[in-house]
Amino acid sequence: MRLGVLVSGRGSNLEAVLTAKPRGLEPVLVISNRPGVRALEVAAAHGIPARVLRRGDHGGDPSVRDGAIGAAFEQAGVELVLLAGYDQLLRPAYFAAYSGRTINIHPSLLPAHGGIGMMGMAVHRSVLAAPDAESGVTIHEVTQDLDDGPILAQSRVAVLPGDDAETLAARVLVEEHRLLVATLAQIAAEVGSSRPRTGPPLSDAS
Ligand code: GRF
Repeated sequence: MRLGVLVSGRGSNLEAVLTAKPRGLEPVLVISNRPGVRALEVAAAHGIPARVLRRGDHGGDPSVRDGAIGAAFEQAGVELVLLAGYDQLLRPAYFAAYSGRTINIHPSLLPAHGGIGMMGMAVHRSVLAAPDAESGVTIHEVTQDLDDGPILAQSRVAVLPGDDAETLAARVLVEEHRLLVATLAQIAAEVGSSRPRTGPPLSDAS
């Protein structure tokens, strides 16, 4: 299954996937909306083609840029796009240009601590302020509504006494990497088993 990844920053989830190489998954294109980010170095280190598509290079219009992102994945034959730390809302032009599936990883137990502004450390601060006894990881389908698509997988992480946003984020991140690799492997296996077999027909040896 041909995988595209959309990133904005550190790229640790991208790195976890490229390092684990889940069976049946072929990473073919990484797109960043920001130049100079570590995620682009991660893609280069693994030999995965990468592009930077900035709003500023598309007349300052985020819709035009999002259409270009969708078109790039479509042209690359991508079947599944992973948002791995992508910090923008995807506008309808993306969904119009790209016909495949898109999933996102979020560092809380959605629907809790999702939605506008719930990115990065803000998520973990919100969990601690609640205060919640546990947090976790959610992987979900991406629709045009932020953090609102059907949930594919979730995993719980305890909030420990003395946790601050940084310590909680670090523990959640370890679980993100594990759940992401496992979920991608499962999706690839499901898609692989539902595809018609290619190659010479199976026959008895007559
Ligand atoms: C992760 O916490 C992910 O869940 C969220 O953004 C962060 C990205 O981290 N969507 P990284 O860039 O994968 O290291």
